[in-house]
Amino acid sequence: MTTDSIEVSDLSVRLGDRLALDSVTLTLEARRIAVIGANGSGKSTFARVLGGLIAPTSGSLSVLGVDPVAERTQLRRLVSLVFSNPDAQIIMPTVAEDAAFSLRSARLPRSEVAERVREALDQFGLTELADRAAHDLSGGQKQLLALCGAVIRRPQLLIADEPTAYLDARNSRLIADHLLAPSDRRLVLVSHDLALAERCDVAVLFEDGRMLGLGDPADIVSRYEASLAC
Ligand SMILES: Nc1ncnc2c1ncn2[C@@H]1O[C@H](COP(=O)(O)OP(=O)(O)OP(=O)(O)O)[C@@H](O)[C@H]1O
Ligand SMILES: [Mg+2]
Repeated sequence: MTTDSIEVSDLSVRLGDRLALDSVTLTLEARRIAVIGANGSGKSTFARVLGGLIAPTSGSLSVLGVDPVAERTQLRRLVSLVFSNPDAQIIMPTVAEDAAFSLRSARLPRSEVAERVREALDQFGLTELADRAAHDLSGGQKQLLALCGAVIRRPQLLIADEPTAYLDARNSRLIADHLLAPSDRRLVLVSHDLALAERCDVAVLFEDGRMLGLGDPADIVSRYEASLAC
């Protein structure tokens, strides 16, 4: 059964000798969820567990009604992930081919693939670069291509880990506006950009692998900023 929420119960993740997530319990029903916290606090681990890339050490979770470990295929249909190391996400030789590659499992007619690629490249300002070698793009251009590949699949949930980290001010705004725009797509946005976090519907604050707060983004950001001042 597909539900609208993300439910996490007593979730812990051990990575090496570190408890990267420590007994996290939360229910997320909002459409746009910001995940904030200091370096090493567990944000990326949380994003990766939701995206099925890391299995929990203990506890349970459900992402839109799907168990990310036991139901990988269903999860892949519902969820797209984008991370802040765009090099690792480029697979095909050219920009347009790489965008189209993201649609391989959708089994769409060739004409629809072409149409969706055209539309997505345009949305991300990549039309001029369509025939360029994907590996020769700048870091920010690669980040745009990774985002393009993630949204072209039209996922129900997009999990984005610092998606604006490499982008200039103009592209940061373009991507932020695109990610946060009214849509049926849900968003889990890991970011150090607190202004961006405040534009989400709810925020989660991590510290040392523990969930320290969950609620209105302005309140959670204030709480985080207060903790930094200590
Ligand atoms: N593969 C790994 N092996 C061992 N420890 C790891 C591994 N990956 C992450 N960690 C540790 O787990 C903790 C949480 O890391 P995580 O990457 O989730 O933090 P983060 O909040 O995303 O930080 P940042 O803001 O720097 O990206 C850190 O202490 C980190 O050192
Ligand atoms: Mg991280």
